[in-house]
Order: sequence, then structure tokens, then C-alpha cells
Amino acid sequence: MPVTLKNDINSWGIVARLFHWISAFLLIGLLYVGLIMVDMVNSPEKFDLYRYHKSLGILVLGLIIMRLMWRWINITPTLPTPGLASRLSAPVLYMLMLIMPVSGMIMSQAGGHPISFFGWFNVPILLEKNPSIGKLAWQIHGYTGKILIGVIALHFMAAFYHQWILKNNLLRRMIKGH
Ligand code: HEM
Repeated sequence: MPVTLKNDINSWGIVARLFHWISAFLLIGLLYVGLIMVDMVNSPEKFDLYRYHKSLGILVLGLIIMRLMWRWINITPTLPTPGLASRLSAPVLYMLMLIMPVSGMIMSQAGGHPISFFGWFNVPILLEKNPSIGKLAWQIHGYTGKILIGVIALHFMAAFYHQWILKNNLLRRMIKGH
């Protein structure tokens, strides 16, 4: 089968598949680094990890916005099972994938910390320093991170359940397109 850019009613095009796997890889990396770095003692290594975490988080925000726009102007392949869990999975994941970087940005800016994008430029200041907003965003970032880990685990198990128990090729369709 030829590689197609756009989706159709039964298959994912290459652009949607790349968005899926690149954001999955970056999100799992950010969750892992996020959990490790908060427990480190203050050191140059810890602050390096914070800088990478923030830059990659901003990159993920841009990626998720582009991914949503691509989804909007494209057909979404139909779900093989019409249940509530299947229908809720995408909106819940998109919501969590947006809350994480947005709360991270708010926490940093309201805490008075600049956000450098890989040392190339600083993200414009959209929020004045405000410790109470910073603390709220910090709590949201921490709790939502744990919820996202749980939802990613469910998503992962659902993909295997569809592929090997229901045998409807759901996982293969996100890897090979069809
Ligand atoms: C999109 C993806 C992101 C994910 C999945 C993510 C994930 C996480 C996780 C799991 C933690 C540990 C939370 C805890 O256990 O307390 C964390 C901490 C942190 N994140 Fe993110 N993050 C993202 C984006 C961002 C962005 C865009 C920024 C800022 C620009 C940011 C700034 C921070 C900071 C400063 C901490 C440390 C908070 C502390 O010192 O307690 N994150 N992140």
C-alpha cells in the first residue's frame, strides 16, 4: 500500500502517525525526567534537567497544537468499537496533553522564572510574577502528571487488547497506517 499524507476513513496517514509517535515519545520522556528531577538535590545537573524539561515541554505544546489542527482539517478513521471508553480516550488525552505544558508555563512565569527555548530565545512573558497562581499551577502540573501516567497506561493496555484479543488491527493501523 502506498504511503499517504492524509488519513482516510479506515487508515492513518503518515503525518498523523508521526505526530502520534513523536508526541508519545516526548511525553513519556518528559514525565520520566519530571519525576526524577524534582527529587534531585540542587546541583548543576538538576538545573540542566529543568532547562531541558521546560524547552521540550514548550516543543510538545507546539506539536500538540499542530496535531490538533491537522486532526481538525482531516478525516479521523472510525473506531472499531463504539463504546464510551473508546470515544472518551482521544478528548481526555488531548486535554491532559494541553494542561501539562500550559500549567508548566504558568508555574514558571508566575513563579518569576524565565523559560528559555534551548537557549535560542526566551518565551515571551505572558504573566506577571504571582506566587499564588504559581503555586496553583504547580499543584495542577503535579496532579495532572500522575493522571496522565495512569491514562497513558490504560491507553497502552487498550491498544494491546484491541490488537491481540479483539484482533481488529488497531495498533497495526497506528504503526503501518492500515
Ligand atoms: C508537555 C508536557 C509536560 C509534561 C508531561 C511534564 C511533566 C512533569 C512532571 C511529571 C513533573 C513532576 C511533578 C511532580 O511530581 O511534582 C514536572 C515538573 C516540572 N515541570 Fe513539567 N511537564 C511538561 C511541561 C512543562 C513545561 C512546558 C514547563 C515549563 C515551561 C514545565 C516545568 C516544570 C517544572 C519547573 C517542574 C518542577 C516543579 C517542582 O520543582 O516541583 N513542565 N513536569
